[in-house]
Amino acid sequence: MSEKISDENFYRFDVAEMPTNEAYRLLIHCVAPRPIAFVSTLSKEGEANLAPFSFFMGGGSNPPSVAFAPNVEVSGKPKDTLLNIQETGEYTINVVSHNILEQMNQASYRYPHGVSEWDKTGLTMAPAKKVRPAHVAESLMAMECKLFQIVHHGTDVGSANYVIGEVVYFHIAKSIMTDGHVDPTLVDYVARMGGRWYTRATREAMFQLERPQDG
Ligand SMILES: Cc1cc2nc3c(=O)[nH]c(=O)nc-3n(C[C@H](O)[C@H](O)[C@H](O)COP(=O)(O)O)c2cc1C
Repeated sequence: MSEKISDENFYRFDVAEMPTNEAYRLLIHCVAPRPIAFVSTLSKEGEANLAPFSFFMGGGSNPPSVAFAPNVEVSGKPKDTLLNIQETGEYTINVVSHNILEQMNQASYRYPHGVSEWDKTGLTMAPAKKVRPAHVAESLMAMECKLFQIVHHGTDVGSANYVIGEVVYFHIAKSIMTDGHVDPTLVDYVARMGGRWYTRATREAMFQLERPQDG
């Protein structure tokens, strides 16, 4: 445990004096709840890979862009998802709803190279339109992406690879559309927090908020 400076209301942690894994634990509580990018890729030989990443965000809309971070783990080896995107420049990001929670979790297991998470999870490949990696038929929303840039930040274990991509095609299930718009109360999103905690965006947990009309 790094040294904590305590006062009445806070424990304080200086990152310069913390082990990487402790900083990670705090970071994932601070940046939460996080949506989960369930990323489908192909190696240049055409082997399919599927893995979840919750360091995930949307960015601009012109063009629509997204970033996620397949980071350097203890083995020091790059994750298959990163290697595949470096090789092919293409991927699909599938939105994780409660209906595919178990399969998403299963796909995070470190299977040996060449073992397909599609076979292990029983999820169904649906053809994409503008990229080669399939989208997950059971996922209610998917984005086909082309790589814009990979930004590496840091050194060794825990260092980040920000994969920034441009969304070129959307797949939206008719079952979550009402009057031509996505109805978020029908999506049943799952999101990750710190530790082993997850949350579920049920209809009861949702509310709407209008922007202020004046200062
Ligand atoms: C919900 C969830 C979120 C995850 N988020 C990340 C993440 O943001 N970055 C990361 O490097 N690994 C993350 N992982 C771990 C990867 O899914 C795991 O390392 C996986 O085996 C990578 O697969 P690949 O080597 O086939 O790309 C997450 C796992 C789970 C279950």
